[in-house]
Amino acid sequence: MSSNEAHTEAHKVFRGTFIHSTHSAAVQVLRNAVLGLNRKGKICFIGGAHELESLSEAWHFKISDVRQLKQREFFMPGLVDTHIHAPQYRYTGTALDLPLLEWLNRYTFPVEMKYGDPKLAEDIYTKVVKRTLKNGTTTACYFATIHTDSSLLLGEIADKYGQRAQVGKVCMDTNDVVKAYKETTADSLQETERFVIELLKRKYAHVKPVITPRFVPSCSAKLLAQLGQMAIKYDLHIQSHISETTAEVDLVKNNFPANTSYTDVYNKHNLLTDKTVMAHGCHLTDEELEVFRSRGAAISHCPNSNISLCSGMLDVRRVLKHNVKLGLGTDVAGGYSPSMLDAIRRAVDTSKALTINNPGYETLTYQEIFRLATLGGSQALCLEDTIGNFEVGKDFDAVLVNPSVPDSPFDVFEDETEEIILEKFLNLGDDRNILKVYVAGKRVVPFKK
Ligand code: GUN
Ligand code: FE
Repeated sequence: MSSNEAHTEAHKVFRGTFIHSTHSAAVQVLRNAVLGLNRKGKICFIGGAHELESLSEAWHFKISDVRQLKQREFFMPGLVDTHIHAPQYRYTGTALDLPLLEWLNRYTFPVEMKYGDPKLAEDIYTKVVKRTLKNGTTTACYFATIHTDSSLLLGEIADKYGQRAQVGKVCMDTNDVVKAYKETTADSLQETERFVIELLKRKYAHVKPVITPRFVPSCSAKLLAQLGQMAIKYDLHIQSHISETTAEVDLVKNNFPANTSYTDVYNKHNLLTDKTVMAHGCHLTDEELEVFRSRGAAISHCPNSNISLCSGMLDVRRVLKHNVKLGLGTDVAGGYSPSMLDAIRRAVDTSKALTINNPGYETLTYQEIFRLATLGGSQALCLEDTIGNFEVGKDFDAVLVNPSVPDSPFDVFEDETEEIILEKFLNLGDDRNILKVYVAGKRVVPFKK
């Protein structure tokens, strides 16, 4: 085989139904389609089944090698969790009775403190990576803790199980309540740089470091400024929290009186870039959203958390009207579910609650929310060129859904269209319907080990 032929060889070919989002269509169904992957797991062609013969000649595959999806099965893009705290998985599903700042002091900091122990980190991080993968999360943007070596372990575990991940060692040099859970400014900076250099050195194909100041109330101005510089120096992704509750916004106003807003604090410290994703943003003003848009920074909408901690309700429609990039996040454990299907449902609920308060509100459709959970997430994490939908040239990050497995939590009927079945799966489905998960063309669920 000449090198030219090798270049155009499809390594794996699937035939069946593919459902995804594009910029012009929130849900697009490709029926009886044929999709080819190259050796690197990138989509090299998409065509119709009527073109199968010419495709097999052009891409050098045998028609007998084509993997045919079963009746009713479909592929959808992998779900992108744009905000999740891996250590908090330990108590997810509990501790939902306090508002944010009290919740952090009472439940979160005492748990996160313990992750200096690598045994605990390995146990919980393995469980959260496997749990999220099983539920179709092909990409996760993780907060770890302040402990560098356990944070590196989270990167190692994501790589081992094949999840695409952005991993952040948490930075916090301020903590007036749980005083044992913070770093000195110098340690935070030094350890963050060690974390970044070590993680980059390991050259994991799909796991990258992300600069992670916890949020403004736990960081000094000096720490924020130096983290902003480090993000520039290494051209890194950035994540944090913003305007989750009004009490937090008031705290920031008091601590940073010279800044015009919460957003202004991050912006002035070079922490709002097109590689930034900020969780929540429930209480941002229109002026702040304009700053987000002009910087190309994104918001992670975490509806389960916002409801569970009674933080607020993000007006997603308003964010989208400002042309700010937006993805969905579970925010485990403020959000009690590690499944992005739950994030989709809670995003619908929040939009409907806003409609109850204001009957003229333009409620988000399930199709729009499906787009936010996939393509929107890829934009929020600055990965749109790599993942988010089934476009030629992108990595094949995908979930194979079978809506009619014997123990399916819902029923499908003869006359139902692919759109109806997708809607049922998003509202009623779970990991029993998720037969396989692929990241960059590699099957990662069922687990290999
Ligand atoms: N703000 C600062 N830290 C946290 C956290 O761990 N969870 C949530 N939901 N908000 C935060
Ligand atoms: Fe969070």
